[in-house]
Amino acid sequence: MARAPESMTPEVMVRYPPSMLDLLITNAALPDGRTGMAVAVQGGKITEVAPGLQAQARETVDAGGYLLSPPFCDPHFHMDATLSYGLPRVNESGTLLEGIALWGELKPLLKAEDMIARALTYCDWAVARGLLAIRSHVDTSDPSLLPVEAMLEVKKRVAGYIDLQLVAFPQDGVLRSKGGLDNLKRALDLGVDIVGGIPHFERTMPQGAESVKLLCEIAAERGKLVDMHCDETDDPMSRHIESLAFETQRLGLQGRVNGSHCTSMHSMDNYYVSKLLPLIAESGVSVVANPLINITLQGRHDTYPKRRGMTRVPELLAAGVTVAFGNDCVMDPWYGMGSADMLETAHMGLHVAQMTSQKGIGACFDAVTVNAAKVMHLEGYGIAPGCDASFVLLQARDPGDAIRLRATRLKVWQQGRLLAQTPEIAATLHVQGRPTQVDFQPASRGRPAG
Ligand code: FE2
Repeated sequence: MARAPESMTPEVMVRYPPSMLDLLITNAALPDGRTGMAVAVQGGKITEVAPGLQAQARETVDAGGYLLSPPFCDPHFHMDATLSYGLPRVNESGTLLEGIALWGELKPLLKAEDMIARALTYCDWAVARGLLAIRSHVDTSDPSLLPVEAMLEVKKRVAGYIDLQLVAFPQDGVLRSKGGLDNLKRALDLGVDIVGGIPHFERTMPQGAESVKLLCEIAAERGKLVDMHCDETDDPMSRHIESLAFETQRLGLQGRVNGSHCTSMHSMDNYYVSKLLPLIAESGVSVVANPLINITLQGRHDTYPKRRGMTRVPELLAAGVTVAFGNDCVMDPWYGMGSADMLETAHMGLHVAQMTSQKGIGACFDAVTVNAAKVMHLEGYGIAPGCDASFVLLQARDPGDAIRLRATRLKVWQQGRLLAQTPEIAATLHVQGRPTQVDFQPASRGRPAG
């Protein structure tokens, strides 16, 4: 393939004729419902998206009618704890509080090189699953800041293929733990991107509210984003999301603040929620639910009926709030399952929130793609001219089937570069005398429009 002379500027290279494309993907379905689409890639960017586009390219990939999606994004994770399941023991009660206590037992035993190795293994899983952007909270409670230094090293090592954002997370409470505030500030000084918090774990409700105020002020002073664990409890009186929305408005942080979990909203009084939702929408605070973890950790003090414990996703969306889904935990003190699969997360979110309408299914797919990217302030995200040529080809024909099947990631590209591929899944049956193939795709869609 001919290359532009070295003296030419990158801008000139981008204007090279379509015959010089790096990559052309044909016959793809897109998440917005368009089918038979071609996506042209040059210099790591998408240059054109059109039906039936013909052009010479160094590589042409026939998508075979399968779904081409922007990569998955996880807006809430704990990379410092991942893959530590069973160290030093397993969470017997399954509660959030035993998980925090267990993490406290593990912390003195942690070694940076082990944390880094586990995190890098997880990043490999993520790439294989088409998950190319992760926002990870990192525990700042210990004065050694060992998890912070380990995760900054991981961020550096995976920078070529995963956008890893780090949140300074005072797991033991920024006010409740000795030196908590100082440690958090030092983590920010070291290069951690975002201010975190855990107001429901502070000693009292007023202390929780004080921590929200303090942490938002730090973010405003330093020009940082905020992403706070907020009301991860079944206590309907845990109302720190109200303080978070208020402080966001007071400090002019609209669009820069996220509330994670917000599970107490599940149990709140309906009248109060009818006042709360417009306040959240007005403040531009986004919300991240973590369906796998919320359904596992919440409701543990209930007999029957047991609450689901996830925040009110459809109602937040209807109020105009940006809602995304996070993985939160994979094989750690809080949760022993998981494999970096955001479609598994969307699948659980769809069931827990009963989002089974066509609109609801689409919203669950958006929650692990476009909405998660919005929460994370990602630039150049999407399948449109000018966006990064980063996408995942799924063995499914639409977002609903992608979630239903937790579809195989056939190919994963980042800025036009192939990062991972997995063979198509098909079972061979021997039931009718001769082998037949089953790939779990319906013969006809059978799905109403709209
Ligand atoms: Fe979390």
